[in-house]
This record gives sequence, structure tokens and C-alpha cells, in this order.
Amino acid sequence: VLSADDFKVADLGLAEFGRKEIRLAEHEMPGLMAVRKEFAAAQPLAGARIMGSLHMTIQTAVLIETLVELGADVRWVSCNIFSTQDHAAAAVVVGPEGTVDEPRGVPVFAWKGETLEEYWWCTETALRWPAASGFAGPNMILDDGGDATMLVHKGTEYEKAGAVPSVDSTDNEELKVVLALLQRSLAEDSTRWTTIGREIKGVTEETTTGVHRLYEMFRNGSLLFPAINVNDSVTKSKFDNKYGCRHSVIDGLNRATDVLIGGKVAVVCGYGDVGKGCADALRGQGARVIVTEIDPICALQAAMDGFQVTTLEDVVDIADIFVTTTGNFMIITAEHMAKMKHQAIVSNIGHFDNEIDMAGLARTPGIQKINIKPQVDEWVFPDGHSIIVLAEGRLMNLGCATGHPSFVMSNSFTNQVIAQIELFTKTAEYPLGVYTLPKHLDEKVARLHLDALGVKLTKLTKEQAEYIGVDVEGPYKSDHYRY
Ligand code: NAI
Repeated sequence: VLSADDFKVADLGLAEFGRKEIRLAEHEMPGLMAVRKEFAAAQPLAGARIMGSLHMTIQTAVLIETLVELGADVRWVSCNIFSTQDHAAAAVVVGPEGTVDEPRGVPVFAWKGETLEEYWWCTETALRWPAASGFAGPNMILDDGGDATMLVHKGTEYEKAGAVPSVDSTDNEELKVVLALLQRSLAEDSTRWTTIGREIKGVTEETTTGVHRLYEMFRNGSLLFPAINVNDSVTKSKFDNKYGCRHSVIDGLNRATDVLIGGKVAVVCGYGDVGKGCADALRGQGARVIVTEIDPICALQAAMDGFQVTTLEDVVDIADIFVTTTGNFMIITAEHMAKMKHQAIVSNIGHFDNEIDMAGLARTPGIQKINIKPQVDEWVFPDGHSIIVLAEGRLMNLGCATGHPSFVMSNSFTNQVIAQIELFTKTAEYPLGVYTLPKHLDEKVARLHLDALGVKLTKLTKEQAEYIGVDVEGPYKSDHYRY
């Protein structure tokens, strides 16, 4: 039974609602359920202590309970202050066998609408294992965006240096919070993060932005443990990023504003996997979609797909809806926003909130912010015109709606579970580095989702397989094939 200190969520009373939705989601997540069945007896994650930092939604609840069914000891937080679904968090804490009075599930530290201080407190708390366990921290991380991995790395770095930089050394509000937390931590225990970092066998990373951070740390020699890049499994980025966003970008816009999309001009910044899904969805609603890109290949793809491709400056004053999907920063500046049409909608679906210059917007002389409802703000400029900003510039599909639907997340999360099993059980095969899962596992994830959609696969004959130089059972493509 979990004690009150073992978790922090909004309201355990929401657990029953959460459990009902988890039950519906399980049916829509055939990959995860198949993995549960396949590994139930072997318990490959027995002994794994997994700290997860990934949007605490209903779909994530099914992921967490899959990890537990395979033997893992799990602690969880959200990787965004607005993305927790409070009923999902409550249900995971209560667990399938517990009650609100006697919760028997997984320690979760997450609620919708955390402050930045609370967010980093949750991350730190989930990274520290209860004293009674005898362990300092996890031996595996399951990350989305890399915040948990970053905290362990920064903590270790500053412990080795014997000092944490001053809070005044940065203008970044969030970094100030992290530095203050690490200063307190260093004063309390000067070997906490070094000890935690040493015990970690590896991390499996969910998203493009987190993967960028990992490759950068590996290149500059600071990566402390091996990583599996789950994002670049084909069955992750070519499905979740694209078809997931194709669904949830519209959901975010509708729930936040309910504005009619048909006939409007929508600008999608970035035409990578997320941008492709968003542009397609907006066009599907009848919007006239304009794309911005910096990469000639993606720009040409957008043009061939029938989209006008131009710069933001060219269309900033004619568009009704803006969505940033770049994973880059300062895409929409305060200057851009000042030039927009009255009540233009400004939103970001990329991982971090710096794609839109919210700090710059807030500094605009004479600007006024009117909160319309949670995660929807109208910013009124001194000349009287206003813009509508979703989720304070944070990912709008999770801030204003419920993120991706279960079926697509089943693909992503089946990759996550397989990656956790790989790194945890075959640690020696993964020396320090960043890896993607082998293609036969990628194909396996896809295969697990075919029956549910009534897909009938054609089987290669032995002769055909020989003719194209593959095995009858796959893999069917070379590693450089791009889908
Ligand atoms: P990607 O790398 O495939 O696409 C990003 C695109 O933006 C690239 O084509 C790049 O050339 C372009 N770009 C970069 N700077 C630009 C600029 N200044 N102007 C215009 N275009 C620019 O990455 P992906 O997979 O599409 O992910 C994008 C972001 O979305 C990442 O932060 C990722 O972590 C996040 N993400 C969010 C999800 C959600 O549910 N909200 C789901 C999946 C990913």
C-alpha cells in the first residue's frame, strides 16, 4: 500500500474514471497488450527500477502498467506542466487492485497545471528511490524530451565541479529553477547525483528534441549512460509524430477556440514529421495551408504536396492560425505577433515552449493579457488588436486537448517497452552511445498493429525473397531505406 508521501496527484477520487478510460485504451493498444502476453512469464524487467518522465495521460498509464506487468519497479512524472490527465494519474496511483483508501499502484508525481518549481520538484522526487528500498535512484530512465536525463547530467557535472552556477548566471526562468534545486541538493548531499548517475544502465528517449540532446551529449563526451533513440524507430516518428499530430492538432484548436478552420489561412512552421501531419490535418478541415521551412528537401516536399511555401514575414499579417512544429527556438517572435491579424491564433506543437517568444510578448510595452480559460489567453496590443495564444506556447495538443489517441501511442510505447527490455537485459551489447532499435523489432511493432485494422499482409514467396535479396520473415528493407 502506498503512503501519502509516495505520490502527489490532483485528486485520487478521479481514479475510477481513469480506470474506465484505461480499460477502453487497452483495447486500442494491441501492441502493448501483445507485449504483456509475450513476456508475462519471462518477467524481463524484474529488477528494473524505471523512472519515467513522459506526459501522464491515459495512454501512458497503459505503458506504465505494461512495464509493471513485466516486473519493473516504476516511478513517474509528466514531462510538461500542462499535459497530465489527472484521472489517469489517479488511476495509476490507485492501481488495478487498489482502492482510493489503499492505493497499490505506482508512485506518480504529476498534476495538470504545475508551476515550474513544482515540475522540477516532481522530476527530482521521482528520480530518488525511497530510503527503505536501499537504492539511491533508478537504474533505467524512460524519457520524453530529456528533462530527467538532463537533471542527472547537470547534477553529476556540478557535483564533480563542487559548485552549482549562480542563479543570476542565466536569464532563462526555467534554468534558474533547476540551478536553485541543484544548489539545495548539493548542500544536502554532495554525491547524490553522481551515485544516481552511476546506477543508471541507460535511457530510452521518446521524442525528436530529447534525441537531439542525447546525440549532442554523446558528441561532446558528456553522456553518462547509453541511450536508445525510440523516436527514430519508423513505427514511432513516421506514425506518432505524423498521424498523431494529424489528429491532435485539430483537437487542440477545437477545444481551445472552437474557431471554424475551413476557409482560414493556416501557417505551419516546419515540414518535418510533425509539420506534415499538421499541414495535412488543417488542409483536411478546409484551411488554406502555408508552410515555412529552412530545409530545401522538406520545402520541396511541401511544395510537391501542394502547399504554398514562403517565409513567415510574407504571410504574418494575413494568416488566421499559426502552428510551430520545428523543435527550434524563436520561430514566432514578439515582432511577428504584433503584426498579426486581430484574434489570430498562435500555437506550438513542438516539444518546448521557446518556439514562440512568450517572454518577448510579455515585455511588449502596454500589452495586456486576458485569460479566457485555462490554457487560452488573449493578448491585447496597445492599438486594440489582439492575438490568442494557446497553452502559453507549450505543446497545444497536450495542453489544450488530450494529446495523441491510444492506437498511435501503442506503436510508440511498444517501441519504448522493447527498448527498455533491450537496454536492461542486454546492457553489455550497448556500450556508451545512442542507438536505434534494429529493423526486425520495428517491423514487429508494426505487425502487432495490423490485425486490429483488418490488414491482410501479402507473404513473399521464397523465390521473390531471394530475388529482392531479403529473408521471407524480414527485415524487408535496408537500414538506409527512408519510408
Ligand atoms: P523534424 O526534425 O522532423 O521536423 C522539424 C522541421 O522543422 C525540420 O524539417 C526543420 O528543417 C524545420 N525547421 C527548423 N527550423 C526552422 C525554422 N526556423 N523555420 C521553419 N522550419 C524550421 O522534427 P519532428 O519529429 O517533426 O518534431 C518537431 C518537434 O515536435 C520536436 O520538438 C518534437 O520533439 C516535437 N514532437 C511533438 C509531439 C506532440 O505530440 N506535440 C509529437 C512528436 C514530436
